[in-house]
Amino acid sequence: MTEKLEMYKCNICGNLVEVVLSGKGELVCCGEPMEKMFEKTQDEEMRGEKHVPVVSKNGDELEIRVGSIPHPMEENHYIQFIEINSPDKRYVKRKYLYPNEEPVLKYKCNCAKVEARELCNVHGLWISGEIDTEN
Ligand SMILES: [Fe+2]
Repeated sequence: MTEKLEMYKCNICGNLVEVVLSGKGELVCCGEPMEKMFEKTQDEEMRGEKHVPVVSKNGDELEIRVGSIPHPMEENHYIQFIEINSPDKRYVKRKYLYPNEEPVLKYKCNCAKVEARELCNVHGLWISGEIDTEN
């Protein structure tokens, strides 16, 4: 059984998929079950770089940065995407990023609460937890 917005990766070919709508079946790629990716929330295990997305508000625009210390955006170590969604999973916005770009997503959003995720190509998937945008 999968859940909406879960991500699964293939450890053989590197395919990464997101569940758009949940179903009962097991996801398989290259003949093997795909591995569910779990979001990390604790930055302290990293040395000198931060991964948890930081959300701030400027008028009606949200700014999501990775992270509280800017993450490297080098050829072999960079943030591959930043995503913001409403906690009820009705709205999702994703920005894909490439080396040498700034790891930031700006988005106009009226959601009272959001959560942000990002994927580092070396250190995996990270999530902010639920953030109240009205404060
Ligand atoms: Fe990283």
